[in-house]
Amino acid sequence: MADDILEMRGITKTFPGVTALEDVTLAVRRGEIHAICGENGAGKSTLMKVLSGVHPTGDYDGEIVFDGSPVRFSGIRDSENVGIVIIHQELALVPYLSVAENIFLGNERKGRGGLIDWNRANADAASLLAEVGLDENPVTPVGQLGVGKQQLVEIAKALSKDVRLLILDEPTAALNDTDSAHLLDLLRLLRDRGITCIMISHKLNEIVSIADRTTVIRDGRTVETMDMSEPDATQQRIIRGMVGRDLESFYPDRESHPGAEVLRVEDWTAWHPTQERKVVDGAGFTVRAGEVVGIAGLMGAGRTELAMSIFGRSYGRNISGRLFMHGKEVRARTVAEAIDNGIAYATEDRKRYGLNLIEDIRRNVSAAGLHKLSRRGWVNGNEETRVAEESRRNMNIKAPTVMSVVGKLSGGNQQKVVLSKWLFTDPDVLILDEPTRGIDVGAKYEIYTIINRLVAAGKAVLVISSELPELLGICDRIYTLSAGRITGEVPVDEATQEGLMALMTRERESAA
Ligand SMILES: Nc1ncnc2c1ncn2[C@@H]1O[C@H](COP(=O)(O)OP(=O)(O)OP(=O)(O)O)[C@@H](O)[C@H]1O
Ligand SMILES: [Mg+2]
Repeated sequence: MADDILEMRGITKTFPGVTALEDVTLAVRRGEIHAICGENGAGKSTLMKVLSGVHPTGDYDGEIVFDGSPVRFSGIRDSENVGIVIIHQELALVPYLSVAENIFLGNERKGRGGLIDWNRANADAASLLAEVGLDENPVTPVGQLGVGKQQLVEIAKALSKDVRLLILDEPTAALNDTDSAHLLDLLRLLRDRGITCIMISHKLNEIVSIADRTTVIRDGRTVETMDMSEPDATQQRIIRGMVGRDLESFYPDRESHPGAEVLRVEDWTAWHPTQERKVVDGAGFTVRAGEVVGIAGLMGAGRTELAMSIFGRSYGRNISGRLFMHGKEVRARTVAEAIDNGIAYATEDRKRYGLNLIEDIRRNVSAAGLHKLSRRGWVNGNEETRVAEESRRNMNIKAPTVMSVVGKLSGGNQQKVVLSKWLFTDPDVLILDEPTRGIDVGAKYEIYTIINRLVAAGKAVLVISSELPELLGICDRIYTLSAGRITGEVPVDEATQEGLMALMTRERESAA
């Protein structure tokens, strides 16, 4: 069709043991925002990697027509040459390079004599930053920016390449509501400038608010493409397409019977590893057996830092405060000691702290609980495989076998491996840091069910989440954290998003 900028026809892509895409068709109209939805492992990222030449011609079957002509990309350079730019699920900026250096990396602004012209690069970067609404100095190292801002730098980088079709793979997964809203506004602005956009997201409310059309993929096949201006283009319909059935609710029911106190933290303070400031400041809280407790806070409030400093002091310096398990003060000065004391921490950053990406599922699942599988230093391999198989079944991890290398799993399935690993340590307290980030609606329900099963067995669960509806849906009690301090404690029956938000921003405003 004349107004289609892109047509992918009959795309089939296989990996050893996996058919990731089978006869997928995708048509994208010029100037639209086209959303792609599907469960973890459905093939969304793979489809976009085919489109952008990450999986080159010859590695897949099917046809791609861009702007009226068939295209065959042998690498990402080729797709960029025609104006297709992909921003991957895991951002790819170099933290110690400046904003400007990152923007022009591989596409340097050369001056006379072939030397890089930094004055020009910084000036060009500044105007690109203005276009994306980012008020930062181009010489700032990217590592000093939060994820929200890094995402904007990625878009500025795309704009520097004269992008015509921008592909964003879960751009808002790691962003808070404010940053997400800003990003979505920017996409609308780009659309007005005629830039076509394909966006993968698990946040269905965002899709409903921003997409012109949505394509749903299930198990590597196209289910349908719907026009979002139609009245029946609802979240429910997307979900039905994704999982093949209706979900009655987002949160499984649970009867709550909190028992004795399991974890108590008193006057907990941790300093920034290199800067002269407290990141956690006199925080105190408790979690009881059979209880799910939430920690709500804005980005930078110190949520992860609080959890990690408790988990064997894996973050921070000059940590002080007291930690009690079952009423007895414990020392957990290393991760091993924390695990011995029955504390587990499943991280939000699965690449950096959670997983060994070059190892298989089996080794990753057993990694933190090896002592349970070994006798006199020998690991029982059969037992290890059995445990991993059980996790794969229980968590519905999508992989050909437990010998599959974790780095090749889809993002959401990697998250499930992280959870399996910490569940296997059989902790008394499980701290979950953004456990459902990047996870599809069906798998979220599975994870909530697992949390319920744990608390029913008398475990204590502490959940850190940026999604307030999620905390309201699964917790018994919620603490709010702001600038490293606990600013409130609310039983879930009395909690509202607005009320929590007010507590989460309290200290900041009085400090400003
Ligand atoms: N390089 C690879 N080698 C082997 N298998 C792969 C590779 N990349 C993807 N797969 C497999 O292809 C399937 C589709 O993965 P893909 O990453 O496209 O899923 P996705 O829809 O993006 O999921 P998510 O929402 O979790 O990001 C999965 O089963 C995945 O394990
Ligand atoms: Mg993906």
